[in-house]
Amino acid sequence: MSPKPKKAFELRPCPPHTAAKHALLRRYLGAWFPIIARWNKRVIYYDAFAGPGEYLGGSPGSPIIALQTLIEHAAFATMSGTEFVFLFNEQDEGCVSHLGEQVAAIQAAHQPWPANVKIDINNSTFIDLTTEILDDIDKKEAKLAPTFAFVDPVGVKATPMAILKRLTDFPKAEMLVYFANEASVRWSGSGQIDKALQDLFGTDEFKGVATLAPGESADFVHDLYKQRLHDECNFPYIQSFTMYDDRGKRVYDLFYCTREPIGMSRMKEAMWKVAPSGDFTFRDRFANQEVIFAEVVDTEPLRKHLLEYFRGQAVTIETVLAHVVVATPYLETHVKTKTLRPMQAAGQISSPNQNRPGTFPNGTIVQFPA
Ligand SMILES: C[S@@+](CC[C@H](N)C(=O)[O-])C[C@H]1O[C@@H](n2cnc3c(N)ncnc32)[C@H](O)[C@@H]1O
Repeated sequence: MSPKPKKAFELRPCPPHTAAKHALLRRYLGAWFPIIARWNKRVIYYDAFAGPGEYLGGSPGSPIIALQTLIEHAAFATMSGTEFVFLFNEQDEGCVSHLGEQVAAIQAAHQPWPANVKIDINNSTFIDLTTEILDDIDKKEAKLAPTFAFVDPVGVKATPMAILKRLTDFPKAEMLVYFANEASVRWSGSGQIDKALQDLFGTDEFKGVATLAPGESADFVHDLYKQRLHDECNFPYIQSFTMYDDRGKRVYDLFYCTREPIGMSRMKEAMWKVAPSGDFTFRDRFANQEVIFAEVVDTEPLRKHLLEYFRGQAVTIETVLAHVVVATPYLETHVKTKTLRPMQAAGQISSPNQNRPGTFPNGTIVQFPA
């Protein structure tokens, strides 16, 4: 039998939900690059499923967005003491070749190319390249430089939890990983690709889908995946965002994983700023309620959570803020005026040392009822 002819390479359209993912990446990297460069001589942006670097109509793909975000950054000149390694990987040859052209074009447009920005384009699979890099590091008994890994696959078969664990088993590693929620739900109860799902989750607990009512499965696999990223990859802070299209259909889940509170803060700021265009919304479930990342902030789930979490305690405002940053989808800026002030007005909290009710300067003690 003759081999199947290879599908010709062609650019794909960039739907609004992909554009939203790109806006998020651009905003977050715009904050991450200067922060990470302040303390590190070498950092890595690893785009593990890089794509061709361009969409139909000319909008840039994630590797080009990452590069542009750095070299066109207002503070780029202040980052000259740090070497930035852009590690791009893509399994498809046509995509790699197009990506090479896009990278060459961006380099040509930014001459002289800064000596501290290195680009490495690979034509491999995520598993093979990551394993090769980490085996080499192990052999040298070295450590991976602080890395932001963008893991943006198609489907459920290419990103085993064991590889994510190895890749991020370094103190300053962070990851933004795409999770194919719908495909996971579809296959989890089928028994047809159990080996792949076992690899994806690093457990066989996904089989629990078979016992659930259809409406419960999407949240179940989402929560299981988050728990696995927490337990296996040892990420204390994880914020997930679910993209819904304008008809209310769940399109994808993204998980941002970090060990740094400041990372959580910056990613959530990016999230709340990628304002809904009407074509999509980012959502999270919190305190058993839905949080929609929208211009008008509904703080009801946060109020409910704070009353439960700090029940019967008197804590400083600093403690409340630090908790909100790492453990909720909300921002620091959502706490005082939008949440605590109305709670106090409604008699839900009090303070023994406040000068003016409804204001919470540093040192203010907040008393939560028992
Ligand atoms: C969702 S696209 C990436 C889009 C890109 N991150 C962006 O935002 O512009 C996924 C890409 O992964 C590639 N791919 C699929 N399986 C792969 C694997 N096992 N390893 C590396 N790349 C793979 C596909 O060819 C495709 O270009």
